[in-house]
Amino acid sequence: MARHLITSAIPYINGIKHLGNLVGSQLPADLYARYLRARGNEVLFLCATDEHGTPAELAAAKAGKPVAEYCAEMHLVQAEIAKGFRLSFDHFGRSSSHQNTTLTQHFAGRLADAGLIREVSETQMYSHADGRFLPDRYIEGTCPNCGFDSARGDQCDNCTKQLDPVDLINPHSTISGSTDLEMRETKHLYLRQSAMKDQLETWIEGKTDWPILTTSIAKKWLNDGDGLQDRGITRDLDWGIPVKKGDQDWPGMEGKVFYVWFDAPIEYIACAQEWVDAGKGADWERWWRTDKGAADVTYTQFMGKDNVPFHTLSFPATILGSGEPWKLVDYIKSFNYLNYDGGQFSTSRGRGVFMDQALEILPADYWRWWLLSHAPENSDSEFTWENFQASVNKDLADVLGNFVSRITKFCRSKFGEVVPEGGEMGAQEQALIAAVGERMAAYQTAMDAIEVRKAAAELRAIWVLGNEYLQSAAPWTTFKTDPAMAAMQTRLGLNLIGLYATLSAPFIPDAAAAMLAAMNTGDAGWPDDVAAALTALPAGHAFSVPEVLFAKIADESREEWQTRFAGVRT
Ligand code: 2FM
Ligand code: ZN
Repeated sequence: MARHLITSAIPYINGIKHLGNLVGSQLPADLYARYLRARGNEVLFLCATDEHGTPAELAAAKAGKPVAEYCAEMHLVQAEIAKGFRLSFDHFGRSSSHQNTTLTQHFAGRLADAGLIREVSETQMYSHADGRFLPDRYIEGTCPNCGFDSARGDQCDNCTKQLDPVDLINPHSTISGSTDLEMRETKHLYLRQSAMKDQLETWIEGKTDWPILTTSIAKKWLNDGDGLQDRGITRDLDWGIPVKKGDQDWPGMEGKVFYVWFDAPIEYIACAQEWVDAGKGADWERWWRTDKGAADVTYTQFMGKDNVPFHTLSFPATILGSGEPWKLVDYIKSFNYLNYDGGQFSTSRGRGVFMDQALEILPADYWRWWLLSHAPENSDSEFTWENFQASVNKDLADVLGNFVSRITKFCRSKFGEVVPEGGEMGAQEQALIAAVGERMAAYQTAMDAIEVRKAAAELRAIWVLGNEYLQSAAPWTTFKTDPAMAAMQTRLGLNLIGLYATLSAPFIPDAAAAMLAAMNTGDAGWPDDVAAALTALPAGHAFSVPEVLFAKIADESREEWQTRFAGVRT
């Protein structure tokens, strides 16, 4: 049995994610994990919340809660929504776990021992009233360019000019409002990525089968300006993993924490430890240490394109620089952006559909199908309500739902709720079996290559074959002259439902489960042989007509949602 480690980029803790975030990492990762499990592989699928950094501190302050409490609550909220979308993580961890703390400090120690960390003195704004250094986002003042009075230390939101905190006129702390600020010297640690450039370049050059989107971003950063830059991995913040060298204090680094992007990917490993510590697994090292069995593991990461530099350069630099036998990623599937109705999804402006809202209005499968069949793989793609309505109504309701409903209802009316016997299959049935077999091979090829849209199109084509067969075999007509033949056609149709359930489950797991429940059977497993799969339900097997699998979206609902999600989230 092949073993597959799959990780999804870990979402920031501050707030509920929108559908664009979902389709860029968690959802396609889930599709792949479900598919590989169904094909009999051993899969470990991990995700977590990314809990450190300024955004977490700011969001907690806005919510009026201590940051640890805020993170604990939001983790549960995100975990619940993930369940709602049927994301089948083996573990949903937290980057603030003690496992990640220990491991992050361990990596920093190894990198320091290998001479891959240097100390740099910088000046940064210090607030006497707050007793701390202020990250750029914690400083506001008047923009020297346009006069806007709430420009942030890093950028003016009014004229978009990039700023330095020292550029601001009358700067003040956004924590206390104090203007008693001074530029002070502070020391930070930098990861010497530049020293590892050749090693990283050779590694990336070897990845000829990776999506162009992934390798082109990596190569751009490798060759940007003077080449790969060293990266600051510490911050003057309270919230985060304290800077230590393994379990030793780091002189001069007291009160500092690691930069969120240093510890976040390490959580992929720590998450496997959390999975074991939670009693869900026996051994994390066989997934992560190549000296302990992980050399046999295929590791695939999923992420949006903005995350690619960290996963192709910084995290591999951490892993390789440690000099220890950690598993490196084998394949990085990255995604472009999903836009929303003529613009961008915007978390700050509440523009677009957020994961909790999506589930309030429709079940997970509707969203899963649309998002995956329109995944922004080769370019950015766009969510429009018209397109969503059309896809749901056509693909899910007219093609799949209608097929299931027609054949089960027809059988009930003519033969009762049991699979009828009927005669031998004829040429038309053999042709259908051959066509399904061909399409299924194409579906598998697309899924193996994680070509998500293509896989969706192949799956839909398999559904269409069933409809076309039903249309041309027309058992309702055959029944009048040859009931035995109509019975055989019906038996085949009912068996197709079972096959559809298995093949469709990675995309639409709830509908697949409902189809199996209606057919009064379990998942027969991924079929090796289509002909055998289509005779799995024997004559005399009882079934029931399922509830409507997919309801059509009415124009009124579409219009109502269009208005509701256009503006500011309330
Ligand atoms: O973009 C994001 O949502 C980041 N929180 C992703 C981090 S992925 C990894 F490094 F863990
Ligand atoms: Zn400005």
